[in-house]
Amino acid sequence: MSIPIGPAGPLRFPDNFGWGAATSAYQIEGAAKEDGRGESVWDTFSRVPGRTRNGDTGDVAADHYHRYAEDLDLMRDLGLRSYRFSISWPRIQPDGAGAPNQRGLDFYRRLIDGLHERGITPMATLFHWDLPQALQDANGWESRDTAHRFADYADAVFRALGDRVPIWLTINEPKTVVQNGYLTGHHAPGRQDPDAAYLVAHHLQLAHGLAVGALRATGSDSRIGPALNLHPCYPADDSPQAAAAAHLYDGYENRLYLDSLLKGSYPEDLLADLGPQSRMVQGIRDGDLKIISAPIDLLAVQYYTPIYVTADGGTAHRWATSEAEWQQIYPEGMYDLLTRITRDYGPIPLTITENGLPTPDTLAADDTVQDTGRISFLRDHLTAAHRAIADGVPLESFHVWSLLDNFEWDQGYEQRWGLVYVDYPTQRRVLKNSATWYRSVIADGGF
Ligand code: FCB
Repeated sequence: MSIPIGPAGPLRFPDNFGWGAATSAYQIEGAAKEDGRGESVWDTFSRVPGRTRNGDTGDVAADHYHRYAEDLDLMRDLGLRSYRFSISWPRIQPDGAGAPNQRGLDFYRRLIDGLHERGITPMATLFHWDLPQALQDANGWESRDTAHRFADYADAVFRALGDRVPIWLTINEPKTVVQNGYLTGHHAPGRQDPDAAYLVAHHLQLAHGLAVGALRATGSDSRIGPALNLHPCYPADDSPQAAAAAHLYDGYENRLYLDSLLKGSYPEDLLADLGPQSRMVQGIRDGDLKIISAPIDLLAVQYYTPIYVTADGGTAHRWATSEAEWQQIYPEGMYDLLTRITRDYGPIPLTITENGLPTPDTLAADDTVQDTGRISFLRDHLTAAHRAIADGVPLESFHVWSLLDNFEWDQGYEQRWGLVYVDYPTQRRVLKNSATWYRSVIADGGF
């Protein structure tokens, strides 16, 4: 069944389409030591010399903690219908456990109320990588107990804020924690330990499932789902070897998360590849997959790049990259990914919670930022998303990454991903050309 969309010709999205933008706590808030906030793994990691570009940290970031009211007005001026942000666990539980810190909860209450006052629907992510350092000191996501700590934290947040948030997202990109945090080590906690990495993948998914259970236990009728970054994996050539390698690669990039969450089983080829003695396989207990596959209300998808897999299991570049060298610009990948999810996993409602690119933005003398590359990128990806909707994919909303320029993890502040330019020395916000373009797209319901 396909969803009615406007007349052919100019692209028209469904009337109730959720036009949005996304951010995350550590990347924009700053105020690292205020109102009782505890330390996170990113505070620790970014202070280690050499870990981030220019030694940048999130201590001040875009100072959103103090400027949230101005940022809310910006969102209203853009006409956003949905705002996806994350809640900082160490603001709520400075040591990762125990009674919630009221001042932390109050900040998010003010933010959420401000969104409602402006007619913008809040979409809150519970975990966007800022694990309380105290939990990392107790072995972080390698410890099964961290999944239970997460469920307690989620319960505290649901009880305090649940009535005002219609959509909750549990864990942002578990795969990035696995790959960047535990395989390559260029994200916190900076480990290079494949055996630990996949145990972490299991515990992150367990944490997700326990949080879904915690929401249901409150009797809330809010919706909940995970936020997965998924990568269409294509063979780099026509050989059967490349096809086989791409299939296994797809397992590690996509099926490791999709099969468990939506089908209740880990892919057999991956379990075989990891081996029966791996920490992950040893760490799976009876009943875990049932918890992990607890019914969800929607799946949040983040799309940035395809991956081309060579016959020997390596990767190749086929398309031009953005300033992020890992990102090949391929809008068709958006269509392939969305239609594949619906085909393989059924008509679960989908939201795009991240899509965007960094561009070499500069503030011109006339106070404009000419980010033409961002406009064409978004136009092409939205066109692909629109085609997926026309072909029956239940996509309900789209969030640009990001609302604001921000702290791009190990890349610090050099990459600019925002619709809105942040002049860091003054913290002044300037709408880039892409922001005014997006405003008209929202107003027109398409382009
Ligand atoms: C995603 C992250 C987000 C941001 C973008 C560029 O992987 O979820 O925080 O870093 O990439």
